[in-house]
Amino acid sequence: MNKEIRNWEEKEGAKFLKRIGIKPGQKVLDFGARVGHYSIPAAAVVGNKGKVYALDKNKDPLNELKRKAAEQRLENITLVKTNGSLKTGLENSSVDAALAYDVLHLIDDRKKLYREIHRVLQKNGLFSAYPKHNKLDQPEQSLKNLEPKDIIREIEADGFYFEKEHCGLISHDDFLNKGCVLNFRKKENLLRGRK
Ligand SMILES: C[S@@+](CC[C@H](N)C(=O)[O-])C[C@H]1O[C@@H](n2cnc3c(N)ncnc32)[C@H](O)[C@@H]1O
Repeated sequence: MNKEIRNWEEKEGAKFLKRIGIKPGQKVLDFGARVGHYSIPAAAVVGNKGKVYALDKNKDPLNELKRKAAEQRLENITLVKTNGSLKTGLENSSVDAALAYDVLHLIDDRKKLYREIHRVLQKNGLFSAYPKHNKLDQPEQSLKNLEPKDIIREIEADGFYFEKEHCGLISHDDFLNKGCVLNFRKKENLLRGRK
């Protein structure tokens, strides 16, 4: 692991996650966790009373995440290996926050993912998305024709209201880049515009 990403996992990532609203004691789903560049700092922020569900459809990165968590004696990360179906296997209203960072471009049926995140989030829960690879930022795959404002609109149409954008020098792949995450809150009512 290079120096800047190590520093991110050990220090800067936790600062950023606190800034976006992750708190001690919370349960956090990291959807598409890969090797844990966000799960590891999230585990440090939520602490022993909290939990991070690090979910991915690929086994190898999860094994690497497991190795790092053990090395850092982080005992509050639960690995969730899926078959890519967008079902998390978590209980209804069981998490305080869900991260979908640098993964939306890889998902074709994003509506299904938003509905699943809505289901597992508790009342007023935080959904934080990092829509890397949108039309304005190295466009790729399913986000290539969408700007952040379009992504906000589609997430708002699926049971959330937009709260705030948080920008900074954040982890992407195995480096840091300037990026912005979009924070949403769960609406109880799936109808648009109603909290
Ligand atoms: C580009 S990486 C982002 C990793 C991490 N969120 C980060 O920002 O450092 C995307 C990850 O999402 C996972 N992924 C893609 N589609 C998925 C799906 N349908 N279900 C679960 N994981 C998925 C990939 O296996 C990969 O590990």
